[in-house]
Amino acid sequence: MIRKLAIAAVLCTAAGTASAADCNAVTVEDAFDLDEAAINVLYDCLKDKMATGYAKEGDEIGSTYRSWAPTATRPGVAGPHGNRLLNTFANDIAADQYLKFADEGVEMPVGSILAKESITVSIKKKAARPGPLFIMTKVGTDDAPDTAGWLYAGLQPNGKVMKVKQSFCHDCHAGWEAQDYLGYPLEEVRLGASTN
Ligand code: HEC
Repeated sequence: MIRKLAIAAVLCTAAGTASAADCNAVTVEDAFDLDEAAINVLYDCLKDKMATGYAKEGDEIGSTYRSWAPTATRPGVAGPHGNRLLNTFANDIAADQYLKFADEGVEMPVGSILAKESITVSIKKKAARPGPLFIMTKVGTDDAPDTAGWLYAGLQPNGKVMKVKQSFCHDCHAGWEAQDYLGYPLEEVRLGASTN
């Protein structure tokens, strides 16, 4: 079944004539069943739509995050964030430290921004579509005393600002205190982690 999806999707991309509605098709029963090839096909299918959507309302992060440092070789399905396919970018201030994926004593510099694009996989609709852009900005504890100096935010796929409850995001991220509250991409997709 997975192989069939991958082949169908590859053909669809290669043909170049099929509509976007075809290349975002999903036939698996669970987002965790998507293999690397199928994920790459979905990302290729939706990546332009995602970047255009997040930038639509002129949001500064939504318009620039794609020029930042990538942190993963491809999107991964981690589980949290709604079983979405997740792909994080780090701004200049964040990149050096973030890309070490260190597991203790991490303190990200103020001004660090992580922007994580997402793809929502609807098993029911048998299709994938752009999900929110999740954003964490290190503003310092004076400005965000209750969330250890992090400001959580998000953009909808149409570029509109999401209403985000700080405690909802931070309660889960609080589990990674030694990593300055960062969850990091799945180990298998981390960029250059083995050479660092
Ligand atoms: C149930 C747990 C959970 C909740 C709630 C949650 N996150 Fe995350 N978040 C994670 C995990 C796990 C990762 C790392 C997985 C990945 O990115 O592949 C992550 C990664 C991130 C990243 C990439 C930086 C990093 O941590 O490595 C951003 C940005 C982010 N989340 C923003 C948010 C925002 C904004 C909210 C609230 C709207 C939120 N998160 C709510 C679990 C959660």
